[in-house]
Amino acid sequence: MRYEENLIEEIRERNDIVDVISSYVNLKKKGADYFGLCPFHNERTPSFSVSRNKQMFYCFGCHKGGNVYTFLMEYNRMSFYEAMEDLAGRAGIEIPEREMTDQERRAQDARIRLKEMNRYAAVYYHAVLKSPRGARAMDYLKNRGLTDETINHFGLGYADIGRDHLYHYLKDKGFSDEEMKDSSLVTIDSVKGSYDRFFNRVMFPIMDVSRRVIGFGGRVMGEGEPKYLNSRETVLFDKGRNLYGLQYAKQSRERALILCEGYMDVISLHQAGFTNAVAPLGTAFTTGQASLLKRYTKEVVLSFDSDGAGVNAALRALPMLREAGLSARVLSMKPCKDPDELIKEYGAQEYAKRIKEAAAGRMFEMEILEGQYDQTDPEGRTRFIRAIAEKLAGIDEAVERGVYMDAAANRFMVRRADLEELVNKMGRILDRSRANQQYKKAPETESRRETRRQNQKNQPQKLLLTYLVEKPEIYPGIRQVVGPEDFILPLYHSVALMIFDQLDRGEDLNPARIVSCFPDAGDQERVAELFHTHLDYEPLPEDRDKALTEIIRKIRLAAIDEKMRHTTDIVKAQELMAEKSRVQRMKLRIWGE
Ligand code: UTP
Ligand code: MN
Repeated sequence: MRYEENLIEEIRERNDIVDVISSYVNLKKKGADYFGLCPFHNERTPSFSVSRNKQMFYCFGCHKGGNVYTFLMEYNRMSFYEAMEDLAGRAGIEIPEREMTDQERRAQDARIRLKEMNRYAAVYYHAVLKSPRGARAMDYLKNRGLTDETINHFGLGYADIGRDHLYHYLKDKGFSDEEMKDSSLVTIDSVKGSYDRFFNRVMFPIMDVSRRVIGFGGRVMGEGEPKYLNSRETVLFDKGRNLYGLQYAKQSRERALILCEGYMDVISLHQAGFTNAVAPLGTAFTTGQASLLKRYTKEVVLSFDSDGAGVNAALRALPMLREAGLSARVLSMKPCKDPDELIKEYGAQEYAKRIKEAAAGRMFEMEILEGQYDQTDPEGRTRFIRAIAEKLAGIDEAVERGVYMDAAANRFMVRRADLEELVNKMGRILDRSRANQQYKKAPETESRRETRRQNQKNQPQKLLLTYLVEKPEIYPGIRQVVGPEDFILPLYHSVALMIFDQLDRGEDLNPARIVSCFPDAGDQERVAELFHTHLDYEPLPEDRDKALTEIIRKIRLAAIDEKMRHTTDIVKAQELMAEKSRVQRMKLRIWGE
């Protein structure tokens, strides 16, 4: 069944897009719009924008965009109906019960079955670990210092050396090959036969926050490649939006959550009493994980490995945590490699002490910089101080910037006044380059270049639509010289039809509603992009008519050329030629005094 368009609109209007997206992404106001880290691709500086006026979002990095429905559908991988139900619920609007579509029902059934399958697999691996067949794995875990209680608490298991034991176990439990095919537990192969993904490995079940098993990590005992084999992503297992150990850590009473690198770190920290530890799932830390953490805490303690890879991982994670609105401190593991080792060698007390002494994220970043310059060479030292000044200049809040200037002046022995002068200078440079870069696009590739050429051709159409949306008061003047038929790009033509129609009827323009009219996600993105086009510069009042005339001239000329190309009628062609020369001489007075 289809819901009425009015209901769809009402629900959309009662849910402000900034409020809805804020429950998933940390947004900061910049000018008229809100910016945050894009949840649809991994980035460290925000290019994801949300407009309250337009009720739309658009990412300048990955070009995803749309209205509040689009956002929920993409973010939660919901169907349109599910997004609608979610939004209706938020706004307290009752909507008529409806039957699930076949597709939704199939998707829901598949998820339920996959959850059951994962649970059975976890039970199976755990039972094998406890059986005589699991003796070697049990020894391995005991040798690594894990107690029976910990092994049970985390549901650890063992995938033995059989080729297809799990496959037969799941078959016995009533799962079909079809259901197992996308589980990442078993490989279904018509030639080689079906076989288990995990073979002779210690198994770490990975749970979501509601303690449902969604995937596995499996470690070789001793040497071997890969050291950890993880489940591939499935409809249940999203590596970028879950964290190992969070199902327990979210209940810990500690103010901060500890973010470490690996499964074993989490397990030995929990065993030592630090039940607030979590780790990513075999991939680099993501923005999705940063916002997941934000739901449970305001502060994160980074406890990555002490090697170069761990330091780099911390340097990558820090700006992401900041952008998500979390404060972060960094623990030093030296002289050990990771938390697991540190606790084994020096005990839980030492670890607790290091948490107390942990450096603020920004100080850590500056200390890393310190090591990258030759401090004994005046040249190197100068460049180092410039580098920290640049970092300090990047701190938005004046109070925070002041506090860090004090700390840096002290720590790196620079005169506070000198440092401040440099920071202010860097700040002015930074402001200017930020203004230039705010709408900077991702690096150019061949296909991007082609798109850009196309865009240049279509740019005037886009600009005029943007103009109309931002300054509807010019419409009466515009209407006399341009019509929807002058927009030759099909998508812009459809949008122009709707905008002209809304303005003709004297309605307020409603870009988000226009987005809803395009069922195709790609079109929605292009429409969202269209409404997020910003006029590069605001012409001076006396030049505004001239600028607008130029835009309209280009649109009309392109439309005439298009018609010429399709006409074989000589009289028609002559009319078009005459029109063309009129357009070339045209001078608009919309504002003109
Ligand atoms: P580490 O190599 O630091 O492992 O990788 P670890 O956690 O210290 O484990 P032990 O103590 O040697 O057993 C950290 C994390 O990176 C992922 C895993 O999530 C691991 O916990 N990883 C590592 C993989 O996914 N695959 C690998 O081959 C290695
Ligand atoms: Mn490690």
